[in-house]
Amino acid sequence: MGIDLKNSKIQYGLIARMLHWTSVATLLTVIVVASQFSDLATGPEKLEFISLHSSIGILLLMLMIARLTWRNLNPNPIYSYSIKPWQKLLAISLHRSIYVIIIAQCIAGILMLLTSGQTVHFFDVFELPALLDKASSIHVTILGFHYLISVMIYPLFAVHISAAIYHQIFGLVEDH
Ligand code: HEM
Ligand code: HEM
Repeated sequence: MGIDLKNSKIQYGLIARMLHWTSVATLLTVIVVASQFSDLATGPEKLEFISLHSSIGILLLMLMIARLTWRNLNPNPIYSYSIKPWQKLLAISLHRSIYVIIIAQCIAGILMLLTSGQTVHFFDVFELPALLDKASSIHVTILGFHYLISVMIYPLFAVHISAAIYHQIFGLVEDH
């Protein structure tokens, strides 16, 4: 069976699949870049990494917003999976929490920069001016929140990947 650009009632379309895998690759890059600077002392090298991390993070935010828009314009194939109704509800809730948590993380990152007296760059394409002249205490609170979410992401993805594999093995039979 071929794949259409849009989702059908029983399978994800090409655009949803491409958006899924590009956002996964972008997220992994954001995490790898963060792992390169999290232990560095403040200095030009760290700032260079933070700038790269932030630009790729903003790209991820754009991809997640595109995905959310596409999600709302397409049927959800989960409803056709041959899994129990509570499992469908759980799968859809988990997907929604992935959207919420990634978008919240990106917004926290942007706010962190804006409240630390720094501008936000998206590569060399655009720049948001700093909200404050110098770092405020809110910056430290947002940094804590950003760190906390980055730790929470891993268990959430472990559950998502296990469930996705489970759906591939047991769930992809038409239910109606
Ligand atoms: C899902 C997307 C993102 C993930 C998973 C993520 C993850 C992380 C992690 C793990 C750190 C290191 C925390 C530490 O050890 O202190 C970090 C730091 C940072 N992130 Fe993100 N981040 C994301 C998106 C963004 C975005 C979109 C921006 C800004 C546009 C951003 C701005 C920053 C900044 C400025 C720091 C450095 C904080 C500091 O040490 O002063 N992040 N991020
Ligand atoms: C190797 C890792 C991954 C695999 C094998 C995988 C696989 C899948 C599969 C098969 C689906 C279709 C629904 C289902 O059967 O559950 C799906 C949906 C989804 N995945 Fe992943 N995924 C992976 C990683 C990720 C990551 C890192 C993210 C975060 C950006 C993510 C976000 C989502 C979202 C939000 C949906 C729901 C799509 C929608 O209907 O709107 N996935 N994934």
